[in-house]
Amino acid sequence: MTLSDFKPETWTTSSIEALKISLVGENAIQFPPNFTHAIFGETEQIFGYKDLIIHLVFDSVTFKPFFNIKYSKKLDNDEIDDIKAKLLNYLPKEDVVFKDEEKWIDQFEHEQKTFELPDDSFKINEYSADDGDFIIFKQNVNVPFCEKLHRRIQILSLFFIDGASYIDANDSNWEIFWLFDKNSKKCIGFSTTYKYWTYINAEEFNKENNLKYRAKISQFLILPPYQNKGHGTKFYESIVDFWMKESSIIEITVEDPNESFDDLRDRCDLNRLYEKGFFQEVTSVKEFDEKWYSNNKSKFKLETRQFKRLVEMILLYKES
Ligand code: ACO
Repeated sequence: MTLSDFKPETWTTSSIEALKISLVGENAIQFPPNFTHAIFGETEQIFGYKDLIIHLVFDSVTFKPFFNIKYSKKLDNDEIDDIKAKLLNYLPKEDVVFKDEEKWIDQFEHEQKTFELPDDSFKINEYSADDGDFIIFKQNVNVPFCEKLHRRIQILSLFFIDGASYIDANDSNWEIFWLFDKNSKKCIGFSTTYKYWTYINAEEFNKENNLKYRAKISQFLILPPYQNKGHGTKFYESIVDFWMKESSIIEITVEDPNESFDDLRDRCDLNRLYEKGFFQEVTSVKEFDEKWYSNNKSKFKLETRQFKRLVEMILLYKES
């Protein structure tokens, strides 16, 4: 024991620094989390270990998870954080492999042999970009493919979306949009969405099969290695285009968007309004009454606050 071993800080590690997330394909890509408080608490500190490293690794096709905990010394003390137990609360217990790397490799390689993307009945869009061909599917959370992949991947929303929590996978109003590289079958990103039934009026309510919903984007994540390449933009546009064609969806909302998502959403929504010729209808001399707002926001399935922001931005753009 050295003198420093008696100081609590010697045994305290930032969970953001200790956690190394990797996606393993032809190469392994490692990146740090942005947030760990959902798992390791508000202070994001882990107590009881020296030189701590936590490896959380996913096969980049099947997302079969593996984790390992390494340290040079551990305190013999009941107060120390039980890292394994904390992570197992958020990983699929029967599926994740702990420590035994060989077993994990065998299992995901075996699984990869029969791994197929969803069939075309779930497809909502596809596109090509400089880095390949991409395809987007929408699936209800209780579809087996969706349920399994989501159980594996959902921990990433806690690490990259502040305030994210797990969705109720038994509630069939949850639908997940998936973005895949069509050729490598790697998952590039996903978005959890919820459909809220909404009451319009008695006449509509009495018409069978005419129920109306508000669609909410709850979590939207492009995995770190694939960010800043235009995928978020394409993915958001594809989801919105899909809902624009669905007559049962009357409004598109977003749960707690952060600044970078707000930017992406504003850019895409403005582009959509521009392409539909809406910029010409917004002139600084015009008096906008509530009826005008209401009619136009409905036409584009936008929520009031977002629509009013967009109108402000169009006015600013025209005045500049
Ligand atoms: N090459 C270089 N840059 C590009 C390219 C390209 N080919 N295409 C677009 N870009 C730029 C865009 O212009 C944009 O620039 P800006 O930030 O200066 O406006 C930037 O890259 C990002 O645009 P995209 O690439 O389309 O977006 P991305 O794929 O990175 O997705 C997102 C954005 C969703 C915010 C992603 O970074 C992410 O998942 N972050 C972590 C999780 C998160 O914050 N999610 C949203 C939380 S809110 C919610 O869930 C409702």
